Amino acid sequence: MQRLQKLIAEAGYCSRRKAEELIKQGKVFVNGQKITELGTKASFADEILVDGHLIESEEKQYFLFNKPRGVVCTTKDEKGRKTVLDFFGDVNTRIYPVGRLDYDTTGVLILTNDGDFANLMMHPKSEIDKFYVAKVEGIVTKEEIKVLKKGVKIEDKKIYPTRIKLKKIDKKSMTSIIEITIHDGINHEVKKIMKSIGHEVIKLKREAFGFLTLGNLKSGEKRMLTHKEVKQLYNMAVNK
Ligand code: URA
Repeated sequence: MQRLQKLIAEAGYCSRRKAEELIKQGKVFVNGQKITELGTKASFADEILVDGHLIESEEKQYFLFNKPRGVVCTTKDEKGRKTVLDFFGDVNTRIYPVGRLDYDTTGVLILTNDGDFANLMMHPKSEIDKFYVAKVEGIVTKEEIKVLKKGVKIEDKKIYPTRIKLKKIDKKSMTSIIEITIHDGINHEVKKIMKSIGHEVIKLKREAFGFLTLGNLKSGEKRMLTHKEVKQLYNMAVNK
């Protein structure tokens, strides 16, 4: 048994908040009985009608997407920019991204209609490693890398990258390539980490989320995760 508003949202009918409104407005019926109390519990075995629509359990779907540059991760953009959902027009369910990549960041992004899975993946305690390759302005020194290994303070939190490596320096263009793995969920984290040692990120790509890599997926392409992959991600998060 679950809260009615959670079931309605899980079925992909609308958001949990909207479902709460509909319940309060007396538009929800369970087994023929009008429900107006928010704490009411039910299950998909019950007949749930919202505004006359029958609510049924929805198959959970999980996607791996290679996010292109110049695309936002919000489901709607007030500036009318392209969103990741524009690439999922053929998917017949209300999915959303697990966490965010910046407008100009490319690479691995998971999208799903499974809210519990998404929350688990995003929870800092799950400590899922995310591996990025960053091109930054200026020549990064080994000393600077040592500073980052000792941890830097970002938003009052000491951040320790799981792994950080200076991969390449280019004295001609005065840029450096850094490989960095982090497991926290702070917004713009890589950019903030690199800025803390005085280097702006020019290009950023997420190469892996846990064990999931892009493989043959080209920019803007997606594929469904296998049952095994979803299970592995769950296990990684709950065994932390
Ligand atoms: N860190 C960033 O700075 N940006 C991203 O998009 C992801 C991680």
